[in-house]
Formats: sequence, C-alpha cells, structure tokens
Amino acid sequence: MTVATDWNPALYTRFEDERTRPARDLLARCRLAPGTGRSRILDLGCGPGNSTELLAERFPDADITGIDTSEAMLRAARERLPRCRFERGDIASVDGEGLFDLVYANASLQWVLGHETLIPRLLRLVAPGGLFAAQIPDNLADPNQTQMRRIAAETPFAAVLGGQSEGREEIGSSGAYYDLLRPGSAEVDVWTTIYEHPMEDGGAITRWFRSTGLKPFVDPLDEDLRALFLERYTAAMESAYPARVDGRRLLTFRRLFMVARRAQA
Ligand SMILES: C[S@@+](CC[C@H](N)C(=O)[O-])C[C@H]1O[C@@H](n2cnc3c(N)ncnc32)[C@H](O)[C@@H]1O
Repeated sequence: MTVATDWNPALYTRFEDERTRPARDLLARCRLAPGTGRSRILDLGCGPGNSTELLAERFPDADITGIDTSEAMLRAARERLPRCRFERGDIASVDGEGLFDLVYANASLQWVLGHETLIPRLLRLVAPGGLFAAQIPDNLADPNQTQMRRIAAETPFAAVLGGQSEGREEIGSSGAYYDLLRPGSAEVDVWTTIYEHPMEDGGAITRWFRSTGLKPFVDPLDEDLRALFLERYTAAMESAYPARVDGRRLLTFRRLFMVARRAQA
C-alpha cells in the first residue's frame, strides 16, 4: 500500500499544541554539554517546523537543520523559521558520522522500518558526548489504530487497500530500545508517558488521525469511499472512547521516549 498524497501541514497543525507537548517533554531532558563552537542540531522528520521551533528557542545560537520527505511540510517549516535550514531527506538514509551535537526526532521514527539497525545508526550521527533524543508514538494496539485496520479489511475497502501493512514500525519495549542504544552510549534514559487528550467528540479523534495514521488507509480511496471510511471510523471511535462527564472523550496516547548520550570515542 502506498501513501498517495503528500502530508498536509494545515491538517497536522490542527492539534499542534497537543502534538507539540511530547516534543517539549523530550526537549526538557536534553542537556547539551558546554562546547567550544556552535552546536549542530538535526531535527529528523521536522514536519511543519513545530519541533524545530522548540529547538531554536531552546538553543538560539545553534546551527539547526530539519529534514523531512514531505515537500509540503518543508515549505511550511521554511516559512515558519527562515533562520533554520530545511532539506528534503529520508531518515532511512541520512548520514554524517559524528556530525551533530543533538539528533532529535519527535513523532517521526514510527514511519521508518527496521529500528534494530536504524536506532544504532542514528546514534552514530551524534558526536561523542552529544545526544540522540526521540519520542515514538506507541499506539498500534490502541483502538484508534486497530479500528483503522479492521475497517480497511471490510467491504468495500479491502478491494482497494488489499490488506497490506501501512508501513509503520512495531514498537518494542522501552527495554529493547535501551539495549539498542546502550552499547554506543555513556548513559541512556528511556521512559513512557501516557497522555489523555480531551477531544470534543469522535469526529475530533478522526480529524487528529486523518493527517497521520489514517493517511495510508484513506489517501488511496476515492472521495465517496473515503467519506464512508471516515464515517465508520468516527462511529468506532465513539464506541471505543466513552463520553466523559462533560461530553468529551479522552484520547489515551502512549508515547515512548529515549535520550542517549553518545560515549566518548
Ligand atoms: C507526525 S509528523 C512529526 C512532525 C514534528 N516532528 C512534530 O514534532 O510534530 C511526522 C513527520 O515525519 C515525516 N517523515 C515520515 N517518514 C519520513 C522519513 N522516512 N524521512 C523523513 N521524514 C519522514 C513526515 O513527512 C512528517 O512530516
């Protein structure tokens, strides 16, 4: 299954405050050792520049580069932060051994397969004493994800979608990521946070995932099938997330965090 359309910055930023909260929580644990020159920072899967903006505020003198595969996201990021550099690049093939003081990835690595080799390779982009920091959504087993797969397997969607994988990495335990990072690191911090986002209704949950996890399922559909898919998905969200006392639904969202300081050579 291929993703037929580019990412949509306007849809993605509809929940920007909620999406940027884990980026802030991750950054709060990133303490760069005082260095002699200008720090070099790489934001992997920078999106519309919301995570890059946090990096630029926290490290105003740093040389910051954001990379992303989406031209639309890169355009939005360049407009937002003219003083940073934004380049088209794939996380799967980014290189530059020891080039960066901080390699930061908020909510992007789930789209890159093969973490057993990817994570140690990304750590090697970091200079000795520098940091690799990532936050990865760990929600594939949650109803907001399982229901997409269930609906995709139903008639009439299965004929178009073919029941293939949506190209997201299965996230291992925090211990597994610790094991991947520890051999090249002086210290590793891994933790999980479960957020509970109050959402107006089931439709708001659909709008949240329309710009991310739902893309591989609904982008290949024509307009009528897409509307039908989203209608079924919204109904599924309304049964999976009960209305609270104020009528809102709490979107439970588990996220895995890791910060590793690369060992001195
Ligand atoms: C959920 S957004 C995260 C954006 C931002 N980092 C944030 O904190 O909200 C994921 C971004 O990763 C990008 N992306 C997905 N796969 C990628 C890859 N293989 N290489 C580079 N960027 C990728 C997407 O285009 C999208 O902009």
